[in-house]
Amino acid sequence: MSNSGAGYDFPVDVEAKITELRTKIREADHAYYVEANPVLGDAAYDRLLAELVDLERQHPELFDPNSPTVRVGGAPLDGFASQLHARPMLSLDNTYKHDDLKEWFDRILKGMVSDSSTELEPGSLFADENVPNLHVALEPKVDGVAVSLRWEQGSLVLALTRGDGTRGDDIVQQVRTIRNVPLVLSSAPEILEVRGEIFMDDASFSRLNENRESSGLPLFANARNATAGTLKSLDPTVAAERQLRFVAHGLGEVSGGLGSSWTQARSRLEALGIPVNGPSVLVQSAADAINEIDRFDQLRHSLGYPTDGVVLRVDDFATQDHLGVTSRSPRWAIAWKFAAEQAPTKLLDVEWQVGKGGTLTPRAIMEPVCLAGTTVQHASLHNIEEIERKDIRIGDIVLVEKAGEIIPQVVKPVLAERSGQERPIVAPEICPSCGHSLVRVGPKIYCINTSCPAQIREKLSWFAGRDQMDISGLGEKLVSQLVDAGLVKTFADLWRLDEKSLLKLEKVREKSASALVEAIHRARGQGLARVLSGLGIPQVGVVAARTLAEHFDDHHQLLTATAAEFEALPDFGEITAQLLWRWLHQQGGESVLLDLSSVGVQLRSIRAEVSRSQPLVDCVVVVTGTLPTLGRKEAEAHLRELGAAVTGSVSAKTTHVLAGEKAGSKLEKAQNLGIQVVDETWLLACLEQPKT
Ligand code: IVH
Repeated sequence: MSNSGAGYDFPVDVEAKITELRTKIREADHAYYVEANPVLGDAAYDRLLAELVDLERQHPELFDPNSPTVRVGGAPLDGFASQLHARPMLSLDNTYKHDDLKEWFDRILKGMVSDSSTELEPGSLFADENVPNLHVALEPKVDGVAVSLRWEQGSLVLALTRGDGTRGDDIVQQVRTIRNVPLVLSSAPEILEVRGEIFMDDASFSRLNENRESSGLPLFANARNATAGTLKSLDPTVAAERQLRFVAHGLGEVSGGLGSSWTQARSRLEALGIPVNGPSVLVQSAADAINEIDRFDQLRHSLGYPTDGVVLRVDDFATQDHLGVTSRSPRWAIAWKFAAEQAPTKLLDVEWQVGKGGTLTPRAIMEPVCLAGTTVQHASLHNIEEIERKDIRIGDIVLVEKAGEIIPQVVKPVLAERSGQERPIVAPEICPSCGHSLVRVGPKIYCINTSCPAQIREKLSWFAGRDQMDISGLGEKLVSQLVDAGLVKTFADLWRLDEKSLLKLEKVREKSASALVEAIHRARGQGLARVLSGLGIPQVGVVAARTLAEHFDDHHQLLTATAAEFEALPDFGEITAQLLWRWLHQQGGESVLLDLSSVGVQLRSIRAEVSRSQPLVDCVVVVTGTLPTLGRKEAEAHLRELGAAVTGSVSAKTTHVLAGEKAGSKLEKAQNLGIQVVDETWLLACLEQPKT
């Protein structure tokens, strides 16, 4: 290639330069992620990457889907394409019990000798001289999202989620941003499918939630949810920013195979630069397995990434094939799940927090204790009835538990440790924030003062949240400052803020003040549904607010509607309808809406653009149970796209119940009412109808 410029001529082999840069960056990635032995400093690496980005931009004809530049994300997608798995992607049977593990070992051994048709008594196997040589590989069970990666001729071409095990969504653009996934492999089998887990390590997860907290966004309950949420985003830059990681834990289609056992396959994968899953050990008996599991349990919180158990599998592939699979899981593997970790600590005090609806919830203040890898000193005590039922007292040694979620719970007091000095926990009689007297209804305690500063703070934080006004930068801390300084007393006051008044607040700089004012102003156009869901109207959350905006064009129509009209809406019972009407006409709702309208907040409903035919336009659908491939929210979004109204409870108005696994009372009710019950394939079939 030659470049004839203004008066001079120099040969520039751009293609060779691009190839060289890609190779250098790949080598640096390999050195960093596989060999843990960096060959380039950050600045040098960034320089090479920037140079490559620049050249690729000038030469789009030299595009390569696996260029290292895809690590930064790229353009958002329209949707995920689903594809069949070359081999079904199975799940695992779980157990918490030692006896189950012993039985599993017995079953395996029995299966291994079944060829010789010897009938063996369970338990007698370990003593038998003809016992086959069993090796079981143990490795940590990583708590993330399962994925199947496919390289063809060494190039990463596909990344499918598990989906229903037969068909998954292609998330390859998201996966390409994961730094420890090699985009190009040298000397790999022609077709190589590797199954594994995408996860977020502890440090990235903490960082993500810290950032979300300071931007006023809802926190992810755990790293698995954060990973799943990240991978569901159609915008690959989200995945790029959140620093996900991958570990291999199995194989799919592999031309020529990768050896005769999982241990061999692991080393082959490692040699190819594909990260495999942490410490792996081989055992030969249930007793050894149980010892190793205990060791893993001690070790798990020092790994730096989330694990929820240990996976045990027969190491030898031929034996695996011989043992076979059931419809959902292989017989040759089983997952041991760790029990939720508990720790004892002293309950020092109870703090009553005021929520946005005025509810007071008790929070335990405890002596710091190390639990599931983090130090905790606060835990939920649920409500006063729970406290009374469990007889939890201040000064008690209590057991705290973290069960997959971030917020630890107080499980119970350790009665044997009581000294007699403990004090009962008394329900407060006045609001700790405003001093107003409180009302107790069953287990709930309310502050009914609508000008209570704590409630205003909570309400404003909720209103600014991601599913409501989505005002980035307006986090809890800033909201508190605004309320404390008397700058914001109502929702509409947000739009009365200017940079000058914001700059008077501590730690608010010019740049963030102007960004915040801009974000607030942008939020004017979020539409009726989001405004309604943000106002904290009793019983009106995101779903009910959406229903309202689907049936009423603006706040004027809402204000002239009768309670009976609200009751006729899908999923609006008499109580919700009454509460809404009362909020609008007796509790100041009307002036809240008019005030918002006066500061320019749009109170018209934004009707979603109709992009496909709406075959479900007259349907009212309830989703229940766990669907094989779609998340609940995802299924509901698809249903709405297709024109259906989606509601939360089954009533005479319901036309269909979309039921998945473990569907409980809703399914039963539907069957009693003779409502049509459908499954996920029905929804997928509706989605596949051609657009009109
Ligand atoms: S082996 C046939 N090994 O946990 C599936 N799975 O709850 C063989 N997982 O479906 C999978 N860490 O998505 C295996 N070290 C590990 C794992 C692991 C996490 C996931 C995997 C599996 C799920 C079962």
